[in-house]
Amino acid sequence: MRNLFTDVLPDRLPLIAPSILSANFAHMGADCRGVLDGGADLLHLDVMDGHFVGNLTMGPDMCRSLRREFPDAFLDVHLMVSQPDRFVEPFARAGANNLTFHIEAVGAQGVASLVRRIHDAGCTAGLALNPPTPVSDILGVLAEPDLILVMSVNPGYSGQAFISETLDKATQIRPRLRTTQRLEMDGGIRPENAAEVRGAGCDVMVAASAVFGVPAGDRPRIIRALRGE
Ligand code: DX5
Ligand code: ZN
Repeated sequence: MRNLFTDVLPDRLPLIAPSILSANFAHMGADCRGVLDGGADLLHLDVMDGHFVGNLTMGPDMCRSLRREFPDAFLDVHLMVSQPDRFVEPFARAGANNLTFHIEAVGAQGVASLVRRIHDAGCTAGLALNPPTPVSDILGVLAEPDLILVMSVNPGYSGQAFISETLDKATQIRPRLRTTQRLEMDGGIRPENAAEVRGAGCDVMVAASAVFGVPAGDRPRIIRALRGE
């Protein structure tokens, strides 16, 4: 399997990550097959616990079912949960490739040990920060994760408006990363603002409603537009 953190050619970037939160849960297999065949690089799974955020979404069983159906897909799991440490091994066993947790959940002092635990479980590790969280909160731990996720909406629901002030955070973080670290942005991304997101140095772009909110036949075109093609 491609390792999206070390083996991806620069000319393949940015990577497009449709979030299945806006897929039709009754047609999940067909919706995912359509976007993977239509040029998506990974599937983004938004895991919400009703505590860290107000919504409840999906758990390891969804990940396991997707892994069975799509053995080669890169599954990018975004843990919007208060206790991410509890879910490392369950998601790793369920076939996740990357596990991203929030700095707001564990604090800077909890980052290194959780990254290590995720690596020991066989996954790459991402660190996310919410719109109100300043870049200074993660500067001391930037070297640990394989990916930094800058949230461009307050997490909880798809279909929210893009918070353009978060672009500046990506611009600040980008020069501080190694070339093998990825910079992901998530929330409110659509073809109309994708150039700004790419211009801020983001090389993984998550989109839920922009991709799954259009008819299936239009999704490959949206994916190309997000990539800037
Ligand atoms: C925030 C989630 C996002 C979100 C994206 O709640 O982490 O992945 O669902 O949805 P859109 O692209 O519709 O803003
Ligand atoms: Zn997400």
